[in-house]
Amino acid sequence: MALKNSYYERLAGGYLFPEIARRTKEFQVFHPEVKIMRLGIGNTTEPLPQIVASAMALEAVRLMNVETYSGYGDEQGNSKLRQALSERYKKCFGVRLDADEFFISDGSKCDCANISSIFSHESIIAVESPAYPVYVDSNVTSGKTGQFNKGKMQYEGVYYMPCTEMNDFFPEVPSGHVDLIYLCRPNNPTGAVAMASDLQPFVDYALEHKAVIIYDVAYVDYQKERGLVESIYQIPGAEKCAIEIGSFSKWAGFTGVRLGWSIVPKELVVEDTVPGELHRMWSRRYTTVFNGASNIAQAGGLAVLSELGQQSCQEVINYYMSNARLIKNGLYDMGLTVYGGTNAPYIWLKVPDGMSSWNFFDKLLNETNVVCTPGVGFGPDGEGFCRLSAFGHQENITEAIESIRMNLRI
Ligand code: MLT
Repeated sequence: MALKNSYYERLAGGYLFPEIARRTKEFQVFHPEVKIMRLGIGNTTEPLPQIVASAMALEAVRLMNVETYSGYGDEQGNSKLRQALSERYKKCFGVRLDADEFFISDGSKCDCANISSIFSHESIIAVESPAYPVYVDSNVTSGKTGQFNKGKMQYEGVYYMPCTEMNDFFPEVPSGHVDLIYLCRPNNPTGAVAMASDLQPFVDYALEHKAVIIYDVAYVDYQKERGLVESIYQIPGAEKCAIEIGSFSKWAGFTGVRLGWSIVPKELVVEDTVPGELHRMWSRRYTTVFNGASNIAQAGGLAVLSELGQQSCQEVINYYMSNARLIKNGLYDMGLTVYGGTNAPYIWLKVPDGMSSWNFFDKLLNETNVVCTPGVGFGPDGEGFCRLSAFGHQENITEAIESIRMNLRI
């Protein structure tokens, strides 16, 4: 007799972004004449740089030819791509990692969800609140949390690290024992960043407690200010206690192409392992349940890592960041309180007094036809905020801000 995985019943609701899409669609059914402006999910809109698209087209042509056709590659990824990433880390971040410490995936969302599978079911997870919902939801469905507590808007057994205006959206190191600590910098959704002095206490904590930091750098190329951490391995000791997860999605417009990476250093250890063991386990997982990222996407990834590729991707990022400035300045000029948007493509907007973030979502949609992401969808401390995404064509962003300025009743 098959039984369902009953941990799915613990999930508090639908996954955040499909839920937003559902509500938006419902609104559109009742208002078919309305043009909806989507500043909800962070979905890229600008075309790929030519060098990247051409590399993928060339790879597709190679597949048409019997001499150059390729089938399965290494599950852990194309060795040239792993080498190129290792070189980028050395050149751009001053971090030395072997190429085989990089694992190429079909996007960082899967890595964020799958990584906890190499750790015990007993692990206590710690997440920033607010945080990208995949960290918590994937641990709920794998049974590493308790039930959802509706009153507190949080799962039992999860250690929430509040990121609020009071602490500049940077969490305190856990005061009790936790095993897996998810951090994302620059942060989705608040846009907050980290200096080495912010992260060193987390690394010290992880070393002391034999905990592991899972560090998400999906938005690192959006950082503009100097002196910010670009990789957790810039922090001394992190190679013994941290896993890093990166993505081509927002860096290079690969949201639909799908390509990402994770770094599991050979030096990483936890309570019952020797150096190399967790690296081998992650490799074993790759070879067991994954047949490697698409060879076409990996050819695109290699082109992104070329000098011209990196320059071209930076131009697209600059475009999105000028959208971020438009949104942030537009809202600020209306007297609203806004955070983020300087080193990340997200603006974290404080909703008017006393209003819940889902109520503000409805108000914004009804009055201005703009879709945002309700902050509470990212965790209990996201209540009272909403997130606006800077991904979009500039004319649409301008129109959305104008609509908010003209129509939002505050
Ligand atoms: C977001 O909007 O937070 C992300 O882009 C969604 C995702 O990457 O899955």
